[in-house]
Amino acid sequence: MQEPKGIVVYGPGHVGQLAARLMLERGWKISAAVNRPGNKVGTDLGILCGLAAPIGVPVQDETKIEFSALDGDIAVITSTDRIRVNFGTYKRFMEAGFNILCVGCESSYPWAGTPDLAHEIDAIAKANGVTFCGSGFQDIHRVWLGKTLIGSCTTLRSYCHRSQTDISPHGAETARLVHAGLSLDDFAKQTADSKGRDVSIYRVFLEHMTRSLGLTILHVEETLEPVTKPVPLHCPALDIEIPAGACTGTRFKTVITTEEGIVATAENELRLFEPGEEATISWVIDGDPPCEVVVTKFDSHQGTSAPLINRIPQVLAAPAGIVTITDLGPAQFLGNPSVELVYA
Ligand SMILES: NC(=O)c1ccc[n+]([C@@H]2O[C@H](COP(=O)([O-])OP(=O)(O)OC[C@H]3O[C@@H](n4cnc5c(N)ncnc54)[C@H](OP(=O)(O)O)[C@@H]3O)[C@@H](O)[C@H]2O)c1
Repeated sequence: MQEPKGIVVYGPGHVGQLAARLMLERGWKISAAVNRPGNKVGTDLGILCGLAAPIGVPVQDETKIEFSALDGDIAVITSTDRIRVNFGTYKRFMEAGFNILCVGCESSYPWAGTPDLAHEIDAIAKANGVTFCGSGFQDIHRVWLGKTLIGSCTTLRSYCHRSQTDISPHGAETARLVHAGLSLDDFAKQTADSKGRDVSIYRVFLEHMTRSLGLTILHVEETLEPVTKPVPLHCPALDIEIPAGACTGTRFKTVITTEEGIVATAENELRLFEPGEEATISWVIDGDPPCEVVVTKFDSHQGTSAPLINRIPQVLAAPAGIVTITDLGPAQFLGNPSVELVYA
């Protein structure tokens, strides 16, 4: 197993902080933490993560540093889902010789939303001899789970993925992504232009999976619907009260038709949960043999950051350029952590 020499954590919000704790539990060296300007700058990453003592890694302001002066061989990027937003950061890290592992949903299959930038990222990565990869919750629970089940079929007619997950454990970026807190009018305005809109995070994984099955995509259709509740709900990430009837999140519907006649569908709700609601994920495979799997009792927060940790040795050993999680094969368990962290 290729262990990291040093990891730079970029964008240490909810996902990045948990990822940092999991790295420290493994005894891996976090060589730097970097963020955009703001409150976190100057704070020790360990303290930010809730540890009892600093770890000697203050969060640095990205506008005030040279990335080439940073120590380490991989940058774990946990800032936004959007490649267009993250691109400048990717470029700076890759040109400074860092491999990249990003949690942004678009990054796990950059060709779905930003094919122009996918080519550019691939070229920059190859020119600098580094690997670019995206992982996160979609890695195991969406792409690999569905792909593995379909691997048991000799005939396939359709596959359908559904999920309901809570935004509460996540940060402000996730809440904004699903339009939490908007009125229905504002939701309609923000999502009306399907051509000008970014692809949905769920389209990315379904398109990725479909292409990785060797199917030829004819058409992709996605629709976004607001999810409302008849009672007011508190949104911890935005620290606002969402009134009854306003948007608590989004239902993303994706339908992909293929030249082979196989249809892929996904219906994913990412929203605030009411007390007592439980997250679920399901796959229904209409093939021979058919199968249906429902996953419950999972933790979407840990399920997002943990695959990032398990993918690091694979990314370090991978060839230069964009390498996807389906190129890498399933993520591997690395053994139990060796360091017990002391929390404040
Ligand atoms: N793939 C997955 O499975 C998965 C799952 C959950 C979340 N996500 C995605 O992961 C990202 C982080 O989620 P989170 O819950 O950790 O959010 P978060 O708590 O809001 O943290 C985001 C971090 O990135 C920084 N940041 C935000 N926007 C930025 C920008 N435009 N440029 C540079 N830095 C920026 C923030 O800095 P400030 O401190 O200045 O705000 C913060 O440190 C989101 O895009 C979310 O949708 C992916």
